[in-house]
Amino acid sequence: MFIFASLTKLKQKKMKKVLTIGGSSSKASINKKLAEYTGQMIKDVELNHIDLNDYELPLFSIDIEKESGFPDDLVRLNNQVESSDGFVVSLAEHNGAYSAAFKNAFDWLSRMESKVWRNKPMLLLSTSPGARGGQSVMEIALSRFPRNGGNIIGYSTFPSFNENFVDGEIVNPVLKEKIKGLVSDFSESL
Ligand SMILES: Cc1cc2nc3c(=O)[nH]c(=O)nc-3n(C[C@H](O)[C@H](O)[C@H](O)COP(=O)(O)O)c2cc1C
Repeated sequence: MFIFASLTKLKQKKMKKVLTIGGSSSKASINKKLAEYTGQMIKDVELNHIDLNDYELPLFSIDIEKESGFPDDLVRLNNQVESSDGFVVSLAEHNGAYSAAFKNAFDWLSRMESKVWRNKPMLLLSTSPGARGGQSVMEIALSRFPRNGGNIIGYSTFPSFNENFVDGEIVNPVLKEKIKGLVSDFSESL
């Protein structure tokens, strides 16, 4: 009984922590939905979800940093990133780039630790209602994240979100298989 209890405890202790991040400040963010949905496909991990709305970060300014240091919510966000073993990130695209909310959080995080992603495995996604599925922001992140410690195990754009994701489910079989494959590779890398 004692041995069983100890083994169970050990197993619980070793469970990897995966953080999902929706790169948007929209309350109804489709990227948050996609990141959380994808996270839930990963078996036997502790899942935590980041909604950028829960972190009050002023618009990054070197002057604010000099005068007031790091905001409490930044420290909280950085702790979440630090204590995770891997990330599922889905980026919103605004005018061909990161959403302002994500870029702001990313800039602040990079002031605390330039290797924001700590070389931990990342599954990188982007989605939009359009046919390109955030391809431009994906290209930006693919070229930039590795410089900030990004260890991108797999990535995919997810086009035409509202047609391909209905009632909390991926209804396009090709996309579903693609995400499943990415989840499998990501799980193995944890
Ligand atoms: C200011 C602004 C700019 C946008 N620019 C793009 C764009 O460049 N490419 C794109 O595919 N969608 C663009 N969109 C549409 C977003 O993809 C759409 O709002 C999507 O829902 C954003 O993701 P989210 O729901 O996770 O915030 C833009 C939306 C806004 C509000």
